[in-house]
Amino acid sequence: MPQWTDQQREAIYTKGQDILIAAAAGSGKTAVLVERIIQKVIDTESPVNIDELMVATFTNAAAQEMRTRVQLALDVALEENPTSDHLKKQATLLQQASISTLHSFCLDLVKRYSYKLDIDPGFRIANDLEADLLRQEVLEDLFEYWYSEENDEQVAFFDVVDRFSSDRHDQDVESIILKLNDFAMKNPWPTEWLDEIASNYELNEGITNSPWFGIIVDKVTDTLEQAKKEAEKCHAITLLPDGLIITGKLMTVT
Ligand SMILES: Nc1ncnc2c1ncn2[C@@H]1O[C@H](COP(=O)(O)OP(=O)(O)OP(=O)(O)O)[C@@H](O)[C@H]1O
Ligand SMILES: [Mg+2]
Repeated sequence: MPQWTDQQREAIYTKGQDILIAAAAGSGKTAVLVERIIQKVIDTESPVNIDELMVATFTNAAAQEMRTRVQLALDVALEENPTSDHLKKQATLLQQASISTLHSFCLDLVKRYSYKLDIDPGFRIANDLEADLLRQEVLEDLFEYWYSEENDEQVAFFDVVDRFSSDRHDQDVESIILKLNDFAMKNPWPTEWLDEIASNYELNEGITNSPWFGIIVDKVTDTLEQAKKEAEKCHAITLLPDGLIITGKLMTVT
């Protein structure tokens, strides 16, 4: 058992609030987290069962490491207190404890409650190729719909196609839509995010209230300041005894 530092101790025992631990590689984050788990399990006042905790890691390897380390720590706790029924129970519960990557936790959750979500419990995760094909299919269907339905959406769609694709094919605009979709899906609320960026282009509140205003002002200010500098350079040149003609050559002002 390491001699915990004060900060480590704080990270292990702090209760009743969210905590965030950031520390250098190899400085003991996993050790602290394992100890935090163990302390919760062996707490005499309100012991928790190991399968009541959700422990999420980034990789499967890290989840495996975590499980092994919790197992070792449980073994030590059992050696110290071999008659504890609670601890004996934990050794069994550890097998079904939720120590996994966030992805496998979500997969588990969806599988377990598939009846509530009204999806086939035998579903599986599509591989990248299948997902690409599905995306492409949806996009083609959408384009077909937009080309055939005469409504407001179509007007907006033609506007986008005119601006972003060549005369011969729609590949450019397709790839913009896919890129935008990919980017949006990395956001926790993709639809809201897309609506929000679209609303940035609406100038109902006047240009000065638009998020672009500051950016445009900065850009114009930069350009004007640059022009002012150039003008001052020109002025300085005209004040030279030879004026603009220096060593027989016309000086170029850049
Ligand atoms: N206070 C301490 N005293 C002695 N050894 C310690 C202390 N804290 C952690 N260690 C030991 O340091 C080693 C590295 O710890 P650990 O694997 O928990 O680090 P980590 O921050 O999770 O590393 P990584 O960034 O690689 O995930 C372990 O062997 C751990 O037992
Ligand atoms: Mg670690």
